[in-house]
Amino acid sequence: CGIVAYIGHREACPIILKGLHRLEYRGYDSAGVALLDGEELTVYKKKGKVAELEGFIAEKNTRANIGMGHTRWATHGEPNDVNAHPHYSTSERIAIIHNGIIENYAALKEHLQQQGHVFHSDTDTEVFVNLIEEIQKKNQGSLEQAVRLALHEVVGAYAIVVLSKDNPGQLIAARKGSPLVVGIGENEFFLASDATPIIEYTSDVVYVNDYELVVIRDGEMDLRSREDVKQTPYIQKLELELDRIEKGGYEHFMLKEIFEQPRSILDSMRGRLELEAGHLNMGGVRAYERKFVNAERILIVACGTSWHAGLVAEYLLEDLARVPVEVEYASEFRYRNPVITERDIVIAISQSGETADTLAALELAKSRGATIFGICNVVGSSIARATDAGAYTHAGPEIGVASTKAFTAQVTVLTLLAMIVGHKRGTLTDTRLRELMVELETIPAKVEKALELNTEIMQIAEIFKDSTNFLYLGRGYNFPVALEGALKLKEISYIHAEGYPAAEMKHGPIALIDENMPVVVIATKDSSYEKVVSNIQEVKARKGRIIAVVTEGDTVIPAMAEFTIEVPATSEVLMPLVSVVPLQLLSYHIAVLRGCNVDQPRNLAKSVTVE
Ligand code: G6P
Repeated sequence: CGIVAYIGHREACPIILKGLHRLEYRGYDSAGVALLDGEELTVYKKKGKVAELEGFIAEKNTRANIGMGHTRWATHGEPNDVNAHPHYSTSERIAIIHNGIIENYAALKEHLQQQGHVFHSDTDTEVFVNLIEEIQKKNQGSLEQAVRLALHEVVGAYAIVVLSKDNPGQLIAARKGSPLVVGIGENEFFLASDATPIIEYTSDVVYVNDYELVVIRDGEMDLRSREDVKQTPYIQKLELELDRIEKGGYEHFMLKEIFEQPRSILDSMRGRLELEAGHLNMGGVRAYERKFVNAERILIVACGTSWHAGLVAEYLLEDLARVPVEVEYASEFRYRNPVITERDIVIAISQSGETADTLAALELAKSRGATIFGICNVVGSSIARATDAGAYTHAGPEIGVASTKAFTAQVTVLTLLAMIVGHKRGTLTDTRLRELMVELETIPAKVEKALELNTEIMQIAEIFKDSTNFLYLGRGYNFPVALEGALKLKEISYIHAEGYPAAEMKHGPIALIDENMPVVVIATKDSSYEKVVSNIQEVKARKGRIIAVVTEGDTVIPAMAEFTIEVPATSEVLMPLVSVVPLQLLSYHIAVLRGCNVDQPRNLAKSVTVE
């Protein structure tokens, strides 16, 4: 979910709506605003996108200098008008917006019902606001105190903003586990789940920490711990540029982000790959150099696309640095009593740096004494702040829900990491390191070349847009790419797709192959090329429709496949950075042709801050 709030001298509503649009990538089932004008507290909410809400309130009175808004990704209760945020307390004197999940909501709800509180929605959030009301009623204390006490009673994750008609001119917010940023302007304050709704107004921001409470009134911000101890806010300067979060002439953010990859890959290498000086540099790795050199094992935890980047890293680190690597879904890892020792290095990979499961997996590893290392894209995000060392991917803001440039940036950073660690461990010779450095530097240009395939891929998409299933096959470094290609298609076109190791196909998926089954094979020239050619034969013998991604100049596979997509040659180790590009474009065009909402696919959210 995304939250945004304003308190100051301007009209709050337009600022909030604009902010909600920017946060819509975080969820878009329903949206709502609450406005506080003097002692008048009004809530408007609507199922659907922020645009629906905008239409709904166009004719209403939205005058107020204080307000908050929410765009939802449903956890408790289906997306509808009632379950949308903000939620009122029973007396309708207090309203709340909430991002996160309250685990003990059922017990709290029962108790509150006994006290006479009435619930209209199925949400855990309505429980939260009634709990605040109940505590305030019982204690006869301030709203601030009631919020603080309520925070002691809820179990789970939250970022909340609370407004009350009994407290005109005041806004309260708090966080545990879900992100919250405060923007500080001239006698005005902006609150949001990330900095994107704030940047056009101010570049001074404070990232609220877990268990902190913010009270804003009389043009002042008061930051306190849950124990009511005053905290000094750490004001940071934002370095985000506005044009980087806008579409810049592209029809969709996803397409813009796919086309940004030559630059974003370069940005993720900037200052790290110094060919002339002949060295590689990564601040975060330097800090942990000895640990990486002596590591007996590296564990990687991540979710979704970031997990696929982790799989590429497994190949890279084992291949170049000869360290055993295990790649885990963060959500599985944390719940299965994993073996973690002080000699382990645990790398968490996350674009947003906010994924709840990844963050929790990292905390678990930390508590068991492992060395933890974060690879995040969003600067100042929770995972970045929870790690002592790490590396930013510097891909710039990624807005499209389906991750593209963040993936290639993650793989670039992980490649650099594997090269540095391999070299330090003596498993990667000077000559081989040098070769890889030279080759890595050519990757942005090769990605540029792969992007020229756009029109050709659009034509292939036209042919396969009505397929109901897709199989993606790859081996070695291209196996994670096959998984990522299938995930991209599933996410945005809703076509069922599976990624498989090409050789493993014969143990199951081969049964699915008939003349209607498109099979995308990533078959670039590498050490398993000959084997992949045999796998293609197996598909062909069963009349599967082959779309092959091959290395430029290949003459063998084009004679067998129905369609071939030629990408520039590169080292096997670096191929995922190039071979994933046509797959991103293929899923993009299929989704567009099917009339799907590419940037905001159904049921998904960009940043999943619930477990
Ligand atoms: C969500 C997104 C995916 C993303 C995954 C992990 O499911 O829709 O695109 O790969 O979360 O997110 P992270 O921010 O941790 O990389």
